Amino acid sequence: MRMRRRKNLAARMERTADWLVRAPEEYAGRWRSIIPAGLAETAETGPRLLVELGCGMGRFACDTARANPDKTIVALERVPGAVVVGMERARRENIRNLRFILGDVQNIGKIFAPGEIGGLYIHFCDPWPHRKHAPRRLVARNFLQIYRPLLAQSGILRFKTDNAALFAFARKELAAGGWTVTDCDQNSPPEAVMTEYEAKFRAQGVPIGALTATP
Ligand SMILES: C[S@@+](CC[C@H](N)C(=O)[O-])C[C@H]1O[C@@H](n2cnc3c(N)ncnc32)[C@H](O)[C@@H]1O
Repeated sequence: MRMRRRKNLAARMERTADWLVRAPEEYAGRWRSIIPAGLAETAETGPRLLVELGCGMGRFACDTARANPDKTIVALERVPGAVVVGMERARRENIRNLRFILGDVQNIGKIFAPGEIGGLYIHFCDPWPHRKHAPRRLVARNFLQIYRPLLAQSGILRFKTDNAALFAFARKELAAGGWTVTDCDQNSPPEAVMTEYEAKFRAQGVPIGALTATP
């Protein structure tokens, strides 16, 4: 059974290979050259590269790419069985301004160039509740230090979670790192584009914390 599932995953990855970037380090500094070709950045458009970390099954990435045909969306996830679901949707709907990376957030300093990212999105990341695991939280200071140089001058970090303790932790870590939090709501209103987790929690009436931060 397990063998069949693994073979099946390999075939699904193969079918959706056009949406997966296998050597992402080679694109550092030129992600926008992939798609949408030829569109220059202007003060009006702002930076065109948006990156989602821990994208799960890719609902936010796909919907964001569809809603922003003038932007390049890159979604990173470390679980193949999740990321393939997003790639299958991108293939089905032929979403051209979106690519996926199978990898660990830990390595994004090698995947993107300084100042390249206009928007960095972290949604419902694992809370790692034990204190000794705090450095694994994607909003911990060790991660914020990796993100900071990658953001463009007008770049933003957007974070959402259903976990109140994680939300408070993120605010503390951002404050310690000297980030400016421009928009912070412990019970944020729904937005047009949602992740899988957000849709599930909103349907249950769970409050969702959301904030935007700039370095
Ligand atoms: C709780 S899920 C949320 C998925 C999606 N963002 C959503 O809101 O529906 C967290 C996701 O982040 C991924 N993830 C956690 N740590 C990661 C890391 N260090 N690198 C890449 N992906 C990671 C997990 O595999 C998982 O798919």
